[in-house]
Amino acid sequence: MTERWTPDSWRNKPIQQVPAYPDLEALESVEQQLAGFPPLVFAGEARKLKRTLGKVAKGEAFLLQGGDCAESFAEHSADNIRDFFRLFLQMAVVLTYAGGSPVVKVGRAAGQFAKPRSAPTETIDGVELPSYRGDIISDIAFTPEARTPDPRRQLMAYRQSAATLNLIRAFATGGYANLENAHRWMLGFVKDSPQSSRYSELAERITESLNFMRAIGIDPETHPEMRSTDFYTSHEALLLGYEEAMTRVDSTTGDWYATSGHMLWIGDRTRQLDHAHVEYMRGIRNPIGLKCGPSLSADGLLKLIDALNPEDEAGRLTLICRFGADKVGDHLPGLIRAVQREGRTVVWSCDPMHGNTIKAASGYKTRPFERVMGEVQDFFAIHQAEGTHAGGIHLEMTGKNVTECTGGARALTDADLRDRYHTYCDPRLNAEQALEIAFLTSELIKRERQSRERPAALAAE
Ligand code: PEP
Ligand code: CO
Repeated sequence: MTERWTPDSWRNKPIQQVPAYPDLEALESVEQQLAGFPPLVFAGEARKLKRTLGKVAKGEAFLLQGGDCAESFAEHSADNIRDFFRLFLQMAVVLTYAGGSPVVKVGRAAGQFAKPRSAPTETIDGVELPSYRGDIISDIAFTPEARTPDPRRQLMAYRQSAATLNLIRAFATGGYANLENAHRWMLGFVKDSPQSSRYSELAERITESLNFMRAIGIDPETHPEMRSTDFYTSHEALLLGYEEAMTRVDSTTGDWYATSGHMLWIGDRTRQLDHAHVEYMRGIRNPIGLKCGPSLSADGLLKLIDALNPEDEAGRLTLICRFGADKVGDHLPGLIRAVQREGRTVVWSCDPMHGNTIKAASGYKTRPFERVMGEVQDFFAIHQAEGTHAGGIHLEMTGKNVTECTGGARALTDADLRDRYHTYCDPRLNAEQALEIAFLTSELIKRERQSRERPAALAAE
């Protein structure tokens, strides 16, 4: 790992999960075009996110990361983006209040297009075609033309990311993100939820706090910070040719940054120490994530931390744990202890989605809400026992009322899945289910905060 890093040094390493482009000249031409396009995000923004994540690593903030499993070209409307953004803000209000500390908002959005697959091909009725690896690579339709990787789709993904980010920036800073709006939307959810009584107490306390603040003259009209928010983008850095083309030198520091999104992560299937994805990610200075699944050993994790965050910079590395509700207890404590023993600084985040996917009797891939929430609960309990900070959650969710995950307050059943099963890849929590997760997680955050404050209060007595 001491070899010189360049944006293309990953090309000399073994690589997993690459699409087989039939026309390599066309691919090269697209990558050259991308390299001449404007960056989607600025290095200064990525640095600000890294600083804020540094607070999460120290237990002073909470990370909320979420969005589509895979963005699609078909589902690219203002309504979709608005509903997603609105959901995110509502969740953030609940989590902020519970923790009494900032919530760092990072969308799986404006660039989350490339997907790792369990097999390179898919066979239906005896016909074998390349697997669908996300809209940035091919169309999803099961025909030879649609499934052939087409590099021009990278240009479409770039332009869609730019348009999505443009609207998100407008929402985040143009007044829509007003705290009182987010609070009002959240009250609408609580009123309609079958679990209304469980959520209403927290909702009322937030209302009272806002009323009190208004009474003493702190409101969105007088305080611009209540009218806007910082919202960051993230995606899995899977398609490295695209990422390389979007990698630029920051003129202020002379460092290399990925400019396709603020935060990039390494997937669970592409985190081999001496392979291409780790090589690419070690050289960019953005905050990065590393998916940690059941096959990751404590020793393997420490080696990856050495490669990816050799200077132990706070906020640089987020460990996104995705073991499954039945496995988190077997795997997470060992990783936490190894990281603590070596004195490494990381953000611990819980992805309760990717270890909890099952095939329902109906044939749909789904995720039972109880298992999703079960993994979050165990994640918090384990951190509590180890004396470390449960730093964040990472969810696949949409602002739309889809029927992809079973359970939740409306008790969606297997039979309901076919009603509105729209995902291009994994099943997502719908807006109500995602908000429920936020409310239930807020109870866990509050417990963590109280146990931190209690010893301090005792000492002061
Ligand atoms: C994902 O986040 O969509 C994903 C594929 O996750 P993982 O790499 O953890 O399987
Ligand atoms: Co997914």
